[in-house]
Amino acid sequence: MVASGLFKGIQKSVRGAVKKAIISHHRRSDTVLFSDTTLRDGEQMPGATLEPQDKLRIAQALEAAGVHSLDAGFPASSQADIEAIQLMIGVIKGPVLTALCRTVRGDIDAAEEALAGNPRNKRGVSLFCGTSPLHREHKLRKEQAEVVSLISDTVGYAGEKFDIVAFSPEDASRTEPEFLVECYREAIDAGATTIGFPDTVGILTPEKARDTIRYVQDNVPNIDRALLAVHFHNDLGLAVANTLACVQEGANVVQCTINGIGERAGNASLEEVAMALALHEDQYGVKIKVDTTRLYELTQLVAELTGIGLSPMKPVGGDNIFATEAGIHQDGLLKNPDTYLPFRPEKVGASGIRLVLGRHSGRRAVAHRLQELGIELSDEQVLGVLEAIKDVPKGVSIDDDLLAELARGL
Ligand code: KIV
Ligand code: ZN
Repeated sequence: MVASGLFKGIQKSVRGAVKKAIISHHRRSDTVLFSDTTLRDGEQMPGATLEPQDKLRIAQALEAAGVHSLDAGFPASSQADIEAIQLMIGVIKGPVLTALCRTVRGDIDAAEEALAGNPRNKRGVSLFCGTSPLHREHKLRKEQAEVVSLISDTVGYAGEKFDIVAFSPEDASRTEPEFLVECYREAIDAGATTIGFPDTVGILTPEKARDTIRYVQDNVPNIDRALLAVHFHNDLGLAVANTLACVQEGANVVQCTINGIGERAGNASLEEVAMALALHEDQYGVKIKVDTTRLYELTQLVAELTGIGLSPMKPVGGDNIFATEAGIHQDGLLKNPDTYLPFRPEKVGASGIRLVLGRHSGRRAVAHRLQELGIELSDEQVLGVLEAIKDVPKGVSIDDDLLAELARGL
């Protein structure tokens, strides 16, 4: 009995040492980790409901893209979330699977049950509790001290069951900075391995986000014992910009969703944050492990399975991102694709540039398409086709059949 107690004690302290080493390695490394919350915050979007099988497919695509962790669901809130998590166990082996919990012991028990079977280093809990005056007074009806002791109690409890414990003060961006620091300090002392900064209502600007993260980094005395994760909502259209501003201030983890789906105006879009970091490594000084060539496929999969379509202008996944109808742009793209693109389609795994023929097109694009169709015309004849294109009524798309017909009608 005594020996087994001793063995457990040794095991616990070895795990503690390993945990500490992993955290300090991540904090010192120049890599930003992606934590995807499409399956939880994303699914909270009205109309975006996903079946457990759909969640598994998205989780597999996220795994293939190299995402570090998946916010896989909220077991205490829904049986379907438990089913989805259980489908992932044994199949999703790369990313850490985390389950969302309120600062309620029962939620942590539900998470433990849902995640049972996943290796210890691949499962975690993500606790949240409102900390802003609005949440304390109107939602929780608790004083600051009561909130702090709730955090310590539940984070400590979670630490007995999980090696990976994140704590997020909900509505962090509207919480008094001194109190925010106190919540983080207590959470880390109680065993939190990650502290989250959620801008729950998407109110911040990049400058304010950056200043707040700087303040947290400078004032939480034990911050070196945890990773710092940031989580932005997009109510002002600034979620991606805010996320990047915090990376510049040393955030270790970015929480995002594919296509930016999520509550209200959504969350920071994973594909946009990843591309900005990939293209501006010089500015941010960090590397990412996300394979950007998987991003286009992910955007299409999430749009298909959630039924939440993409605006044609949506960065990375929208229909128009590698398409143009303008003659000058078409001419430039044919000479060198980089003339009118920030990155080539293959960088995100999209199929290619699309030159759309229409009233704004130029001679070169028309000649190019005709040639691809094996229709050889003189310069003069190409100009004739171009004139004919300009007469095609609005709303009729110039597909290959129509183009060939216009060429034949010369
Ligand atoms: O936006 C938010 O505050 C959240 C919490 C659950 C962390 O998603
Ligand atoms: Zn959120």
